[in-house]
Order: sequence, then structure tokens, then C-alpha cells
Amino acid sequence: MFKSCDNLVIVQYLNLLNSKFWIICSENQVSVSVLIMNYDIKLLNVSKYYQMGNTTVKALEELSTEITHGEVVVVLGPSGSGKTTLLNLIGALENPTNGVIQIAEKDIAQIKRQKQFTYRRETIGFIFQTFNLFPTLSALENVQYVADLAKLRKSRNKAIEALKTVGLGERIRHFPHQLSGGEQQRVAIARALVKDAPIILADEPTGELDFKTGRQILSLLVEQKQSKKTILLVTHNREISRLAHRVIELQAGKIVSDGPPTDGTVSIDNLKW
Ligand SMILES: Nc1ncnc2c1ncn2[C@@H]1O[C@H](COP(=O)(O)OP(=O)(O)O)[C@@H](O)[C@H]1O
Ligand SMILES: [Mg+2]
Repeated sequence: MFKSCDNLVIVQYLNLLNSKFWIICSENQVSVSVLIMNYDIKLLNVSKYYQMGNTTVKALEELSTEITHGEVVVVLGPSGSGKTTLLNLIGALENPTNGVIQIAEKDIAQIKRQKQFTYRRETIGFIFQTFNLFPTLSALENVQYVADLAKLRKSRNKAIEALKTVGLGERIRHFPHQLSGGEQQRVAIARALVKDAPIILADEPTGELDFKTGRQILSLLVEQKQSKKTILLVTHNREISRLAHRVIELQAGKIVSDGPPTDGTVSIDNLKW
């Protein structure tokens, strides 16, 4: 890989399992250094306004909160309360009008657009209500596409593994129209998992699904906590919010409560809505 290593050379840097590995060559010695990354999310006075003609729409106003890496948090609120806007800001799909959004100690609204792309690619897995799969790509191709974008080695194998994880090992060659809604959402989850991003943002992921399928999808998502992922799950459904130990409730762009669900946490098997 290299001829001489008299001087300090960082030969390779890898991003794996929420850790960064540096392979360092110094005075003919090769060593590996590991830094466990901490993806805490800190919001400080975050506002997002949209100008619509003469009207200012205050989608989010002065939000401050912290989410610790590895937490499963539900964002609960009625339609129009700012839930999607909040996920878009954390995912750097949009910039706030005011305030600081710090993730892994970086203000992601202040970094350059190209860096925001890298941040999104390495840090965020998105899951949407309407699945958002490419209709002309198979399940495998949909997942592999994201693995390729993330420049993963052996992307095809990783995509197959991710599809097996969500129980679709037998369906990898199916196209979205050949899959049920629940199966399409599983492909979308595999797509979010394949790059092993530390933060999963799920925007009403069960909105299009029947109750039983929805519950399976929620279970699959919450299981990801085991691999030390932060899960932000958006819903307008108070019953669904009971799967978490922490619910951030939004109303008209403001946090109105933040704590355990008012009616208590229940296991996913006992959730009903
Ligand atoms: N791009 C936009 N332009 C103008 N208004 C927007 C835009 N995106 C969201 N909004 C407004 O911001 C508010 C919050 O929207 P949103 O975050 O989508 O809410 P939720 O996901 O809770 O339904 C709503 O009043 C919505 O109409
Ligand atoms: Mg929304």
C-alpha cells in the first residue's frame, strides 16, 4: 500500500459502526486508532420560517432540546405542527432560519452544502411515509443504489444482508409494484440500514400501512436501538407514541411537552391504534 513509513502517515480512515478507524503508519510501525463517535443531537433556539407572499409561516419556533446518541424518541404532533420540518433540519435537507443544530459537535447548518451532502450520506438514514422507492429498480437495486452512493465496498452483498435483516431475503429481485406496502417499507428500512448510519429519521413510516403491518414495521425500527442507533420516529398518533420512553410533542411549531408518554410506555406487542 505504501513504500516507506518513516513519517506519520494516516493511510486509511474508515467509518464503521459509529466509529472512525484510522490506520496510522509511523516509524515503520502500523497501528490502528479508534474513535467512538458520539452523535448527540443538540438544538438551540431553532426556528424555521417560510415566506409565502406577505405571510410568514412559522413552521418551527425557538426549539431547544437534546437527544442523546442511541435514544429512541417519538416526535408527536398534529398535521402542520412542524414534525417533517424538524426531521428535514436534522437531516440537513433544509437550513434553519435561526438557531444552532449541533450533531456530533458540528453545527450542520453552518457547514458548506457539499459537506452537508457528506453528512447526510454518512450520518442519516431516511424513511418516509410513502416509501419513496425507485419504481423501476428491484428491491436489491433500490438498496444497492444507496450503498453505492455511500461508496461502500461490496455494496451488493451489503444490500442483500440489509434485505435479509428486514426479512426480505426471498424477495430481493421483486420490483416495488410486486411487493405489498409493508414489504416496500421494509425495503425502505433496508435502504436506511445498509450504510449503518447512526441516526434514523422516520417520518410517519406506518401512515400507509394497516395496523398489523404497521406494528411489524415499528418493531423492526425500534430493534435498531440494539445497534446503538438514534431513532427519531414521527407520528400524529398518540397511541403509537407509547412505544417510546420519550415523546417530544409539537404544537404549532413549538415543543409543548418532552418526557415519557402521558399514558405510559407499552411494549410494541401491546400497542393498539
Ligand atoms: N416549503 C414550505 N413552504 C411553506 N410552508 C411550509 C413548507 N413546508 C412546511 N410548511 C408549513 O410549515 C408548517 C409545518 O409543516 P410540516 O413540518 O410539514 O408539519 P407536519 O409534518 O407536522 O405535518 C405547516 O404550516 C406547513 O404548511
Ligand atoms: Mg409531515
